[in-house]
Amino acid sequence: MKGKPCPVDYDPGVTRMRRTVEAEFIGRTYDDFLFRPQFGVAASRRDISLRTRLTRRLSLELPIVSANMDSVTGTDMARAMALEGGVGVVHRGMTITAQAGAVARLKRTHSYIVEEPLCLPRGTTIQEAREFTAQHNITGILIEATRGSGILVGLLSNRDLPWIEGLEDHRVEEFMTPLEKLVTGPPDISAEDAERRMFDHRIEKLPLVDPDHRIRGLITKKDLILARRRPYTSKDGKGRLLVGAVIGARGDFLERAAELLRTGADVLLIDIAHGHSAVMRRGVEAVRAKFGDVELVGGNVGTAEGAAFLRDLGVDGIKVGIGPGLGCRTRLETGAGVPQLQAIREAWCAVGDSVPIIADGGVREDKDLFLALICGASSVMLGSMLSGTDEAPGSLIEDPGTGEKRKIYRGMTSPQAVFDALYSDESPDTAELPFDTPAEGQEIQIPYKGSVVDILHRIRGHLRSAVSYAGEETLAAVRAKVLPDPLRYLVPLSAAARAESYER
Ligand code: XMP
Repeated sequence: MKGKPCPVDYDPGVTRMRRTVEAEFIGRTYDDFLFRPQFGVAASRRDISLRTRLTRRLSLELPIVSANMDSVTGTDMARAMALEGGVGVVHRGMTITAQAGAVARLKRTHSYIVEEPLCLPRGTTIQEAREFTAQHNITGILIEATRGSGILVGLLSNRDLPWIEGLEDHRVEEFMTPLEKLVTGPPDISAEDAERRMFDHRIEKLPLVDPDHRIRGLITKKDLILARRRPYTSKDGKGRLLVGAVIGARGDFLERAAELLRTGADVLLIDIAHGHSAVMRRGVEAVRAKFGDVELVGGNVGTAEGAAFLRDLGVDGIKVGIGPGLGCRTRLETGAGVPQLQAIREAWCAVGDSVPIIADGGVREDKDLFLALICGASSVMLGSMLSGTDEAPGSLIEDPGTGEKRKIYRGMTSPQAVFDALYSDESPDTAELPFDTPAEGQEIQIPYKGSVVDILHRIRGHLRSAVSYAGEETLAAVRAKVLPDPLRYLVPLSAAARAESYER
């Protein structure tokens, strides 16, 4: 199938596209197309690069962004996302202090340093220490002077734990390696220096301490090896993990932005339900006036006009998606929205690659990510697909009858999320409703899925396979080939073809 070319003479550097979306995309979304396989050239799928742009100045090795939702992205999710090459956007359904704290915790995490290692005081008995190591599944414990003092006095490794009987009520300080004999490092030690020091002394754990012996971190051989195996981790210029954070466009959003930038957020998102609006214009202008050239994403929009509007406001990334999200009721409640693949394509036809597009919401299957990326998105924001995991905020709910485990996933304008956001404030009476719409979200229980890392590995594998089917060795090459005229590469589906493809 051949559509009209869009745009004429595609050039990733151009800032103004001349065409509107191809007619074949109108009313269409992910399940409406398959990709037509091309002659394969990739020798090994493992070597396929998925590198992409998140914003004008930031790039990712995995084109996935975790959604700024209170059931999806807190510190744990953001950490896992960055370690795997994507990025997390910390939600704002909490006080400024709490959100900035979540960013600060993330920024303290290096890919190979345990920032707040577990400790026991020197008076602990051997039996207690044994129980503690079993409970936390660790092999060595830092010993501090008194509980909570954070002053290092020794290290109790597995080797130090007595194996003969009768010593269970003795104190750990009798068996630990004392500070005088310990090899330690300064808090800002580089990975290379730590590796060398640990190898030279044949040790597996390197406590990091300041000149007063205050514990500032722990490096383990296992984490160093893991970090080396993960060259794709998303990092800032100082080697810290990359993180985004969302602000609104009203109320305390400028104070929120100031705190988030102070604690190290690499990119701010002005995320409001209707991003093609006067509220957005005022929000972007205020952020630019106060914070200058910070990396700023605007959204959400679902049309070419909306995307062009955000580009003209000078944002560094455009978030696209009006109503496709699983926890979202906007289309049902208001009748407003644009099918997601059409919205992505419209946005790209309006702005090209001059401003990277983040496709937000509606991804149900891994193949949807690839379609989003080859029709215009540079990265894809996921909510429900990453929810129900260990790293998503919220506790596990276990059905007492079946033993089935679940976690809550909810739209950020669901009544429950709005209520929690309001009452997370220290002064609820003066709290600003942090969202700009009435309830247009809902709450769903998602089966427990284990670690998000496994999901990210699976998606990475599927995206690499898709690149291989597209006849290229990098995602960037597929996009450069397909974006000017995706209809050359897409197969539109009849109801029968859709059933053949997806019904299993
Ligand atoms: P998925 O489909 O990945 O979508 O779960 C995640 C995206 O859904 C959006 N979102 C909402 N949209 N009302 C809405 O209209 C809501 O309450 C709501 N909560 C989340 C958001 O864009 C998210 O990234």
